[in-house]
Amino acid sequence: MKVVAFIGSPRAGGNTEHLVREILRGAQTVGADTAEFVLNKLAIRPCQGCDACKKTKRCRIQDDMQPLYDEILDADALVIGTPIYFWGPSAQTKAFLDRLYGIDVEGVREKLVGKRLLLTCAFADSDPATADNAVNMLRTGAEWFEMPFLDPVLAVASARGEVADQAETMQRAFEAGKTLATR
Ligand SMILES: Cc1cc2nc3c(=O)[nH]c(=O)nc-3n(C[C@H](O)[C@H](O)[C@H](O)COP(=O)(O)O)c2cc1C
Repeated sequence: MKVVAFIGSPRAGGNTEHLVREILRGAQTVGADTAEFVLNKLAIRPCQGCDACKKTKRCRIQDDMQPLYDEILDADALVIGTPIYFWGPSAQTKAFLDRLYGIDVEGVREKLVGKRLLLTCAFADSDPATADNAVNMLRTGAEWFEMPFLDPVLAVASARGEVADQAETMQRAFEAGKTLATR
């Protein structure tokens, strides 16, 4: 079982990073191999809508998304972590998600079927609806790709890393990681 995680916060030591790492720690305890990528450290251009991928079966933008395509296709389960920015995913996360268009092509898309997807979000507002747009975006995407979408791990946290002190939330993240990586 290989679990690959994508961290969409630019904030090192931030809440998203803590949540994703706790999820991966849970996955590791049930034997998963894990990898993580901090999107903000990578050069990922927004999709240009050129549709070259529909002909060549591969995005033509030669940037750091190229190795991520291979990581995704090779994984059994994916974790996407994003802070909520303006009631949606961060720009880093959205650019990454849009670039999945590059593997949404016949002959490649099928390889995603059955891979599990777990979303985790951190946000400041205690209104749980704050994450609705991001959750719905990822849930719909998962349905499109026929990827089982697990219950998201949502955390109300504002200051850098404060979620690490929320034992109940961290426990939920840990358990979600175990569930994600248990066949
Ligand atoms: C540009 C920006 C936009 C934000 N927009 C929202 C928002 O719409 N709703 C909310 O509850 N929190 C919002 N926040 C707060 C963050 O979601 C919150 O601080 C979160 O814990 C950050 O996660 P991180 O530590 O992983 O970066 C925003 C923060 C920033 C910097």
